[in-house]
Amino acid sequence: MKLLAKFNVILILIFGSGLAITGWLADRFLKENARQQVIRQAQLMMATAMSTRRYTATQIKPLLEQHQAQIRTFLPQTVPAFAATTSFNDLRKTYPDYTYREATLNPTNLSDRAVDWEADIINRFRNHADDKLIIGERDTPSGRSLYLGKPISADPPCLECHSTPAAAPRAMIRLYGTANGFGWKPHEIVGAQIVSVPMDVPEQIAAAAFRTLLIYLGATALVTMLMVDLALVALVIRPVRRLAAAADRISRGDLNVPELPATGKDEVSELTASFNRMYVSLVKALRMLDH
Ligand code: HEC
Repeated sequence: MKLLAKFNVILILIFGSGLAITGWLADRFLKENARQQVIRQAQLMMATAMSTRRYTATQIKPLLEQHQAQIRTFLPQTVPAFAATTSFNDLRKTYPDYTYREATLNPTNLSDRAVDWEADIINRFRNHADDKLIIGERDTPSGRSLYLGKPISADPPCLECHSTPAAAPRAMIRLYGTANGFGWKPHEIVGAQIVSVPMDVPEQIAAAAFRTLLIYLGATALVTMLMVDLALVALVIRPVRRLAAAADRISRGDLNVPELPATGKDEVSELTASFNRMYVSLVKALRMLDH
């Protein structure tokens, strides 16, 4: 195998394994980064829902309580769960793949009833009292989605409306009936706040970044190989070929070979200079023999 071919095989091995390792690390990094970004988004959404809940409990409910009593009608607008879910449903008009649910095993409003995977999350919270946050991924019809769940526990003030129909405001019973959302026990985990965020956009961005990175790395490797090849030809291969050709001519008895240029201080120049000296000595020796 020629020197150039050998060097290229070595370079391809070095760049190939470098590219494979870098690619693997970059892929992991970019995917993890995309996931973290989605988690941050989900956390922000959860915090927004919590704020809506608090705002309703501290600002709206006190304002409307008197009015409620006067009109003898229950206003769901005073319920934090209703406020958070309703305002989020409004947001979904613009971002349909994002969801916020107050999924509950035995809800007052049946649209809050936990579906199978939500019930699994709630049951995990019920079985592991120390778990305060669950993060997971699942496939949805519109692509992969990340969810973040937080437990909802029935604190004593909640039981006014969620323990027995007798304890609940009459106006509320008139609106919601007595069948659902009762029987919650103090401090029992009754449901979970669950935020779902689509993962496809950050994943596509990560995949595009990965492709771009690979193209740049591949192009850099190719250009580097080309430069190394050119340098090898100019600094080693061409001078050595010239040396070989000269040695060839001399070995066939041609003593009119001009001395080879040997400028510079590198090994090839030293070899050329030695060759020149050897050639001069050889010519002298042959001439002495002739006399
Ligand atoms: C004044 C009565 C009242 C109180 C007090 C109350 N809730 Fe509710 N809650 C309701 C009503 C009514 C709904 C249904 C709202 C709707 O239509 O979405 C509801 C809905 C919910 C939901 C959504 C699931 C469902 O049942 O539809 C959760 C979760 C919830 N409440 C938790 C709590 C917690 C936790 C507390 C205590 C911090 C609490 N509630 C206090 C009346 C109340």
